[in-house]
Amino acid sequence: MSFPDIRLRRLRQSRAVRDLVRETSLEPRQLVLPLFVREGLTEPAPIGSMPGVAQHSLDSLRAAAVEAAEAGVGGVMLFGVPAVRDAVGSGADDPRGILNVATEALAAEVGDALVVQTDLCLDEFTDHGHCGVLAADGSVDNDATLERYTSMALAQARAGSQLLGLSGMMDGQVAVIRRALDAEGFTDTLILAYAAKYASAFYGPFREAVDSQLTGDRRTYQLDPGNRREGVREALVDEQEGADIVMVKPAMAFLDVLREVRDAVTVPVWAYQVSGEYAMVEAAAANGWIDRRAAILESLLSIRRAGADAVLTYWATEAARWLRG
Ligand code: PBG
Repeated sequence: MSFPDIRLRRLRQSRAVRDLVRETSLEPRQLVLPLFVREGLTEPAPIGSMPGVAQHSLDSLRAAAVEAAEAGVGGVMLFGVPAVRDAVGSGADDPRGILNVATEALAAEVGDALVVQTDLCLDEFTDHGHCGVLAADGSVDNDATLERYTSMALAQARAGSQLLGLSGMMDGQVAVIRRALDAEGFTDTLILAYAAKYASAFYGPFREAVDSQLTGDRRTYQLDPGNRREGVREALVDEQEGADIVMVKPAMAFLDVLREVRDAVTVPVWAYQVSGEYAMVEAAAANGWIDRRAAILESLLSIRRAGADAVLTYWATEAARWLRG
């Protein structure tokens, strides 16, 4: 008579057995690298709160995108940092604006090797730092913002963006942009809807990365971190409006939302491992308090396990190399 009868450790006895029964995979093609390009730079400028990440010049941006492609990364997501800002974010839909110029360059350089994607939001381009235009009373005007987003979407599609990342959290943004793209013949341009984007403290380092002008917060358009059902509802509405992919953001503090959204929609679900998640691991690793590589890979695997089909992560190129090597 042996005891116990049920021995769960049998499946963990060796690396070979563990490899055979692992439920979740992590592959380079499932990673998307966010990249920052700043107007007027000739050399990349380091971002203090994101060690290892830089604001790129056009040249260093191209090099970083080529590296990502060579590592097998699935896509790059571009953010532009303009030299001049104004109330309506004029740089966003100007074909000579930094984001559109950089998109054209990357589409030519790596457009066949990976999916060139662009952030579609006004916050980097406005002098008040909000994701939309302001009404007379200072509130963010949803419907006036939609007009700006439409113009931005067309500019990005014309520049060669293959996938538009709608991160502004305005109501109706997916439907109105889909209609505008189709009317101009951009029926193949993909829409990634930041469906469940929470008003999060974990965006802190990103604000430095894009020289954000924001004072105050985004709580009238981004979701309250206490709300789970509302995140699922956002994703369902965006799917209904025609989103090709929906996003949950941030990732690690919202894994429950990610799982529920994955179970609720049929489109691909992505997650954004944001700047604060990056900074936490880098800071702990720099102090010798955590095994950097193991922590990065575990975080990415866990985001996949929670339901993400792909993950936006500042470690995309490095992690892809580890996964291949
Ligand atoms: C807004 C935007 C933000 C991030 C991506 N897009 C910041 C915000 O909503 O305040 C954050 C990404 C990160 O923290 O890594 N366009």
